[in-house]
Amino acid sequence: MSINSFVAELTSCKCTQALLYVAVVVGVYKLTLFSLSTISLVADLFILPSTNWSKYGAKKGNWAVITGASDGIGKEYATQLAGRGFNVVLVSRTQSKLELIAEELESKYKIQTKIVAFDASTDKEANYQLLASSIEGLPVTILINNVGQSHSIPVPFLETTDKELRDIVTINNTATLKITQTVTPSIVKTVETSKKQVRGLILTMGSFGGLLPTPYLATYSGSKAFLQAWSAALAGELKPSNIDVELVISYLVTSAMSKIRRSSASIPTPKAFVKSVLNSVGRRGGAQDRFATMTPYWAHALMHFGIENTVGVYSKVANTLNLGMHKSIRTRALKKALRKKEQ
Ligand SMILES: NC(=O)c1ccc[n+]([C@@H]2O[C@H](COP(=O)([O-])OP(=O)(O)OC[C@H]3O[C@@H](n4cnc5c(N)ncnc54)[C@H](OP(=O)(O)O)[C@@H]3O)[C@@H](O)[C@H]2O)c1
Repeated sequence: MSINSFVAELTSCKCTQALLYVAVVVGVYKLTLFSLSTISLVADLFILPSTNWSKYGAKKGNWAVITGASDGIGKEYATQLAGRGFNVVLVSRTQSKLELIAEELESKYKIQTKIVAFDASTDKEANYQLLASSIEGLPVTILINNVGQSHSIPVPFLETTDKELRDIVTINNTATLKITQTVTPSIVKTVETSKKQVRGLILTMGSFGGLLPTPYLATYSGSKAFLQAWSAALAGELKPSNIDVELVISYLVTSAMSKIRRSSASIPTPKAFVKSVLNSVGRRGGAQDRFATMTPYWAHALMHFGIENTVGVYSKVANTLNLGMHKSIRTRALKKALRKKEQ
């Protein structure tokens, strides 16, 4: 039988025709979805106008609470929100660093500040009581859950120290949840008393470490994945109260935590990264398939979108590549530590 007559016989069969029909419909459906999300990605990243912060009460005496505000990404959130006309409550461990930043922001932007110093890894009730009393009576509209800890270097899970494991989970998860429970009632009250003239906003820092299961950063990876589910669940709960809740996904940014000093196209400075967040709240960027989630920095967004639409974040391929990358980072970090010791 020739190929032509084989194909003719196959396509004359009703069963094959039905299968072909289903395949075409599914193909068109998938292609349409992909085209729409690509258009939305491009619009989010390069076309749509920046977020209008007056809806969150900018320049109306409202307050933003920022955790991990004394360094890196958190310091930039504080600076850029002050620049947009919010008073700021700065939270971190080190009182002296917070005092310096508060002074700088007050004189540069003519806003008010408060500082709250505690170690989030201790998870003491006194920490949350101190925060609650510091914001009592303030018209808070924004909470930035930025504080976070990662592993000092990539490490096999079974070799992770007890302190590092507990600190990561306590700071990234327990303290973040407790801080949110402490601050959110003030946001609800501010929105209600404004008769819904202003909205509330809760941003939580996620990570590519949580987007992709990351071998050798297993505890950090799990803690950030936890925040994805928690934050999206909270977004649903707080929507009727006019409070927007978003998880912010980021690949590497230059900071003390990443130990990267030089920026590049894919590794922005905290200033460039936070600018991309604050310009695009409410848009998904690279996180097109996720509710209440944004991957705002353009290079991170393209990476996120690319991975989701090719191998997928939970695939064996992604896991294997990630394992190789973090094994090699660990080897280099151990060699560097050895060289330092020998000097
Ligand atoms: N940098 C990256 O490449 C990257 C990538 C993805 C996601 N992220 C996420 O972005 C967030 C900020 O990271 P970053 O790189 O800006 O970190 P960073 O430069 O190390 O700054 C961390 C901030 O948190 C404070 N902090 C640390 N431990 C604390 C504790 N136990 N209690 C209270 N405050 C504490 C620090 O101030 P004190 O020392 O004064 O306490 C500092 O203000 C984290 O959630 C991180 O997971 C970062």
